[in-house]
Amino acid sequence: MPSVFIKTYGCQMNERDSEAVAAQLVSRGYSLAPSEAGADVILLNTCSIRDQAEQKALGKMATLAAQRRKRGSNQVLGFVGCMAQGRGRELIERLPDVDLVLGTQRFHHAADHLDEILAGRMRNVVDIADEAGSEATIREHLFRPSGAQVTAFVSIMQGCNQYCTFCIVPYTRGPERSRATGDILAECRELVARGVKEITLLGQIVTSYGRREVPARGGRSAFVQLLDAVHAIEGLERIRFTSPHPKGYGADLIEAFTRLPKLCEHAHLPVQSGSDRLLRLMHRGYTRERFLGIVSALRAARPGIAIGTDIIVGFPGETEEDLQQTVALVREVGFDNVFAFKYSPREGTPAATMSGAVPEEVIERRHAHLLEVVNDCSARKLAQCVGRRMQVLVEGPSHRNPERVEGRTRCNRIVVFEGGARHHGQLLDVRIDRASRSTLYGDPAIHMDACDNAA
Ligand code: SAH
Ligand code: F3S
Repeated sequence: MPSVFIKTYGCQMNERDSEAVAAQLVSRGYSLAPSEAGADVILLNTCSIRDQAEQKALGKMATLAAQRRKRGSNQVLGFVGCMAQGRGRELIERLPDVDLVLGTQRFHHAADHLDEILAGRMRNVVDIADEAGSEATIREHLFRPSGAQVTAFVSIMQGCNQYCTFCIVPYTRGPERSRATGDILAECRELVARGVKEITLLGQIVTSYGRREVPARGGRSAFVQLLDAVHAIEGLERIRFTSPHPKGYGADLIEAFTRLPKLCEHAHLPVQSGSDRLLRLMHRGYTRERFLGIVSALRAARPGIAIGTDIIVGFPGETEEDLQQTVALVREVGFDNVFAFKYSPREGTPAATMSGAVPEEVIERRHAHLLEVVNDCSARKLAQCVGRRMQVLVEGPSHRNPERVEGRTRCNRIVVFEGGARHHGQLLDVRIDRASRSTLYGDPAIHMDACDNAA
């Protein structure tokens, strides 16, 4: 039976999509190759969010194609996901060795197309059609053979209607489409029955979940109703969600953090900029003041909650003054982690044709300055964890050192400690001894006192 290797670029949605494609192929009799070498099929699941992400996948495919030619093998090469959706046939014109280009609404047809290509009945297949109901098709999960998987992603919606002026997602992922609540709950229950203890609800703008399909009830939006229902699943210990939009943090969602103990002390709250002028040009739908209001409300609802964000530097027309406002906001909020991105114009988005492009060297300088502030802020937050006891869900062997195990705190920090297979899947109380730039190190605490969940 053919073997397949899937390389994933980009976000957690892409990781989830790759898992679903892998599960689909395995159920068709394919095996999963441990690496590219020797795989009969290589799929690159691509990201379009910034030019760099596209260039990486294009470069990788060019290398794979050259190797295939050199070896004269009939390995099958495919692009799937966002860049496949956005560029379609252009990818094959550019790289004629590519056998398959499969878009974001057609992942569930991967096996059909690959069967045909492997049998020699088709070549250079481009399938990027829209498909009604495709949001319901990402459900198969691939489990590690050991059955030790304790965390899982569950897709609750696809697409985005916000049309932030810099963002390609509404074009590559299409309009918002929510999965039926019953399907989501059934998937969550099945995962929990198989030993999963933490579920992350996924979507491009999860706070918009079901807003057209599910009426608000008792002041609770469809998304909060979904959180309530997932929370009621017995045996599930932790719930996370990503990505939300700040405008989705209404009173009901803030209040959910006071009511639902399984909801982890961690909120990703993408701000993009601290300047109201830029927020308007970006079409973000909130002001700096509103954003700060959400942060304080969340901190009041769940003291110690970790707050992360995304920021774009160098949006068209950005001035030094705009950047200063962003830096001041970062200092004021004291984010636990920040992803700072250099603006990358995406063809077809409104920002790509706005005037006032910021020169590259200015973007570099501003980005470096922002990083300094951000790193300082997050190092201080990590250092504050030392000496505390924190609940850790052990996910498996440490990536760096398989003699150790690693897991995450409720506020999503990675903790590494001495341990073994007996710890996998356990919720442990760990005393934090040391912090590096991004990781905490500790010892499972002997006394089971109440632990500091938040930090
Ligand atoms: N809600 C989405 C956002 C996706 S993009 C999600 O997480 O699924 C993730 C981050 O990439 C955005 O928050 C933004 O900070 C950044 N980003 C998006 N478009 C960008 C662009 N054109 N240039 C630079 N950064 C961008
Ligand atoms: Fe992109 Fe804005 Fe939606 S960042 S994914 S258009 S909320």
